Amino acid sequence: MNEHLLSLVRKLKETHSLSLAEYRALVEGQTPELAALLAKEADEARRAVYGNEVFVRGLIEISSFCKNDCRYCGLRRSNGQAERYRLTEDEILSCAREGYGLGFRTFVLQGGEDAWFTDERLCAIVKEIKTEFPDCAVTLSLGERSCESYLALYKAGADRYLLRHETADEEHYAKLHPAELHFENRMRCLSDLRKVGYAVGCGFMVGSPGQTAKTLAKDLKFVETFRPEMCGIGPFIPHHATPFANEKPGSVEQTCYLLSVLRLIHPSLLLPATTALGTLDARGREKGILAGANVVMPNLSPVGVRKKYELYNGKICTGEESAQCRDCLDLRMKSIGYRVVVSRGDPKPIPRKGDL
Ligand code: 5AD
Ligand code: FES
Repeated sequence: MNEHLLSLVRKLKETHSLSLAEYRALVEGQTPELAALLAKEADEARRAVYGNEVFVRGLIEISSFCKNDCRYCGLRRSNGQAERYRLTEDEILSCAREGYGLGFRTFVLQGGEDAWFTDERLCAIVKEIKTEFPDCAVTLSLGERSCESYLALYKAGADRYLLRHETADEEHYAKLHPAELHFENRMRCLSDLRKVGYAVGCGFMVGSPGQTAKTLAKDLKFVETFRPEMCGIGPFIPHHATPFANEKPGSVEQTCYLLSVLRLIHPSLLLPATTALGTLDARGREKGILAGANVVMPNLSPVGVRKKYELYNGKICTGEESAQCRDCLDLRMKSIGYRVVVSRGDPKPIPRKGDL
């Protein structure tokens, strides 16, 4: 194996930091052998923090309405073929109740940027969930909002917020998004979320149109320096009714490779093996866990709406009941020697430079 690349893996393992040029070389140097080595190192690093435990988060897709027009996403407002829905407060609560019975202790409320979900309505929902299930964490994934809004939701009881940065390269950001969405605002949101007190998740798609080793190196450096508690990455998968319909999908191998690198950057990072990974490959989520991920996020949305939350083509788990997805993931994790645990699965503190 290439000596230089081996020395980068050692440096990453020991210092948890590389330069932009080094991250780029690591991305460009991907081979099956290096991937296997990184996965082994990542697995060791993860085991030292989390053993063989995998955390579950129940995903409740509360609205498929979205005011944005992201070029990659099936929920974009110009997709006239999309069937739109929004769950009522009662429907959201009953998903959480079902999930609680199935052992979920974190609920992720995710949706498009839907103006119907005002702070007032969302705060009421968050409060109800936290009152009925005080032992559960509530994670929100509802896009860009004002700092006041993030603060109100935090005060209502929300614990965590997921907002993928999508790409840490400003020009690439502009290729993926319409002109009215700004990289700067995305970064502002992430820093507001952090200031307010949330455990914050960022993330990006792997293989999105226009992505290069150079933009990926920036993503890795961003994760290194922003120190999120969570990072969601999954392969880009084209959606037939978007401008990227004919682009090629990202790869399972590259996603797993990057999961391993992220695990070595922050050994305690919460890293999901995403649904997109499971969509491209029947064993994608297992491969993601083996590469260093430690979270799975089965769907708790009512079966009747699942097909309508179509971010990309062929999304899995749209016909299964919540209990089926939970059991399916239990078995999948067991098959590779991991154990899904009933717990909030709180983030572990990410050490600051001085603590290392
Ligand atoms: N392929 C893969 N992931 C996608 N997302 C949106 N559209 C796609 C797609 N076509 C991801 C984005 C978003 C998250 C909710 O889903 O990264 O932040
Ligand atoms: Fe949904 Fe396997 S996780 S069917």
